[in-house]
Amino acid sequence: MKLLFLSAEDRADPWREALAEELPELEFKLWPDDVGAPEDIDYALVWKPPAGELRNFPNLKAILSLGAGIDHLAADPELPTHIPTSRLVDRCLTQGMTEYVLYWVIHYHRHMNAYADMRVRHEWRHIPQVDPKRRRVGLLGLGELGSDAAEKLVALDYDVAGWSRTAKDIPGVTSFHGADGLAPFLARTDILVCLLPMTDQTRAIINKDNLAQLPEAAVFINCARGAHVVDDDLLAALDNGRLSAATLDVFHTEPLPADHPYWSHPNVVVTPHMASLTVAHSAAAYIADNIRRVERGELPLNTVDFQTGY
Ligand code: NAP
Ligand code: GLV
Repeated sequence: MKLLFLSAEDRADPWREALAEELPELEFKLWPDDVGAPEDIDYALVWKPPAGELRNFPNLKAILSLGAGIDHLAADPELPTHIPTSRLVDRCLTQGMTEYVLYWVIHYHRHMNAYADMRVRHEWRHIPQVDPKRRRVGLLGLGELGSDAAEKLVALDYDVAGWSRTAKDIPGVTSFHGADGLAPFLARTDILVCLLPMTDQTRAIINKDNLAQLPEAAVFINCARGAHVVDDDLLAALDNGRLSAATLDVFHTEPLPADHPYWSHPNVVVTPHMASLTVAHSAAAYIADNIRRVERGELPLNTVDFQTGY
């Protein structure tokens, strides 16, 4: 049984070691230099494979994504769709994202951006502290990642709501759903966090019209995909005061070009697509479990539904 590791961004060695512990019988092949005979490859563990590349492996049994998002695969018009594609759901990936969301929500809730500016001016004063029960946090997307962040925010007493395709019942979280639920969700949101998958329905969702629904001086945190955002509309909202600040982890072009206005905007924080990184030693158990499932004739966990796009 052979697995092909195909990623230009992830280090192969930790995966080789972690998978050897989980599945000693699995032979680890490395794209592009140590592929061997393409017809011998059973599984492809991938991040952003070149379009058409996976077609070269005629006996693949499943495509396993190294990340939660599968937009890097859905964009391939030649993706083999007669076999299942599974996305990554993993304890460390979820934990990392929840840490990122809590970190930035607390940063803005406690005015740490304003205190950082005051420090530069050697200015000593207090900004009134807000009761977290009066801080309205809104999560676009209440899936694996959004629901965990929402639960932890509830535990910290924030006023939490989420928007999803289908209605949710998460204790302490006000659920909005569907097209009709978006405007009322945005209207009650002081800190907006995007954790949606990238689909035809969610592309460019952070646009002029939707930003206009937010309360004055709202904050936006994007940990999903750059293409959720119309950059010019976001910059305009920051400049006209609709938004007071944004933390952006993901961008239309990555790495973010050196001359992009986000880098130098005083109210924007840029992080290099690190909101949550896949941790091999943790995620390998899930990948091995999915391989065992396919070997037993079952579908892997979290098989992508290409009709809904996630
Ligand atoms: P998930 O479990 O599939 O959850 C997706 C959520 O979005 C679900 O609640 C879903 O609604 C909702 N949704 C999808 N389409 C919608 C629509 N048209 N209208 C309203 N809601 C919609 O995904 P996840 O594991 O939480 O991951 C979310 C995304 O995070 C990934 O796709 C990836 O792009 C991003 N991500 C980024 C990083 C990073 O480091 N920046 C790391 C990991 C993941 P239902 O619940 O009703 O289906
Ligand atoms: C990272 O962006 C992921 O989708 O896991």
